[in-house]
Amino acid sequence: MKDTIILVVTGSVAGYKAAELARNLAGKGLRVKVAMTSAAEKFVTPLTFEALTGGPVLRAGFPQPGEEPMAHINFSRGARLALIAPATADILGKLAHGVADDSVLSMLLACGLPVMAAPAMNTQMYKHPAVQANIALLAERGVEFVGPTSGALACGEEGEGKMEDVETITAAVMKRLGGERDLAGMRVLVTAGGCREPIDPVRYMGNRSSGKMGAAVARMAARRGAQVTLVAAHMETHLPEGVALVRAYTGMEMRDAVGDAFPRCDILVMAAAVTDYRVEHPAGEKVKKKDSMSLDLIRNPDILASVALEKGNRVVAGFAAETEDHLAAGRKKLVAKNLDMIVINDVSRGDIGFGSDFNEATLLTRDGRKMEIARATKDSVANAVLDEAAAIWRANQGRKKPEAAEAS
Ligand code: C5P
Repeated sequence: MKDTIILVVTGSVAGYKAAELARNLAGKGLRVKVAMTSAAEKFVTPLTFEALTGGPVLRAGFPQPGEEPMAHINFSRGARLALIAPATADILGKLAHGVADDSVLSMLLACGLPVMAAPAMNTQMYKHPAVQANIALLAERGVEFVGPTSGALACGEEGEGKMEDVETITAAVMKRLGGERDLAGMRVLVTAGGCREPIDPVRYMGNRSSGKMGAAVARMAARRGAQVTLVAAHMETHLPEGVALVRAYTGMEMRDAVGDAFPRCDILVMAAAVTDYRVEHPAGEKVKKKDSMSLDLIRNPDILASVALEKGNRVVAGFAAETEDHLAAGRKKLVAKNLDMIVINDVSRGDIGFGSDFNEATLLTRDGRKMEIARATKDSVANAVLDEAAAIWRANQGRKKPEAAEAS
């Protein structure tokens, strides 16, 4: 039986490309069912899609007497994926905030399907903080974005916002439908978030990590079929679904949690910001205000460096958040901590890194390779990190090194 995909077309000049997209997807053996917003009908007609797909189009208006009253519920039954292409700022905003003011949006909210979106809009619209926040929120909830790319836009401007080309969108859909479980059988341990060290029962010492990067690694690994354990410190983001969750708030709790889970993992991605120091004697009661106070800090153990000593065939990946000489500093940590790879971020930039939904990184491997990961959502960066970690894991299997840590 053919896989069914719902293609949601919205009101953009790129709407005409959705016709080619529908044909391409059908050419890959998929059954394509099209839903159109009323704005989409200003650019291309439902008849075009009915002719191309051989089936009725779900239109935005309310059903007329005699028409199927539950079309917004029944339309998507049996489908595997919803693809919004082109996706306007309007539909992304509405979907991010649960607006269901027509049949197409109601269908999207009711379908329970994985959603992919190929945005298309003017550069300034795309870069608007509200649009970026909506995209980030949707990405966090699992919507997969394809594009946009840069180029000449219909408005006459040049820049980011052009819908990704039809071949690329088709390939991304086929990957999502077919090849998405490429990490099945792998056990991935991820740490995320910022550790906090108590000063007294009220106050703590911490850092600016939001946990978004580690959450993205855990989410994408689970989506790609891996068995995932997430050791999470303080997180300012949604916790991913489908992972075994262990909470570890202090550096020492994280050391214990990672130590426990490490023997049963194949890949460790250590994205947590572990506190380098802890307060030697946290106060039992809230410390009263004084003109000055000092804290005795002691060094926390380096978790990565200690587990990497006994890694056997496991792949161990670290992150380095640097503000200067980031490549040299990252390379030094790769060697000093005996890692297979390190993901280096320049956290002096405000548009990526801490708290952001986007990242840009340089990935260095033990065998001297260097890969630049261009600015993208943290989900995309997570996929690039997982691609590399899985490749090293597969290569390690051929080498048959003894397992140093005890596997169970
Ligand atoms: O803090 P630093 O830059 O050395 O962190 C680099 C990597 O080492 C990160 O992946 C971090 O999670 C890890 N780390 C650790 N234990 C620490 C400090 C950092 O595992 N005590």
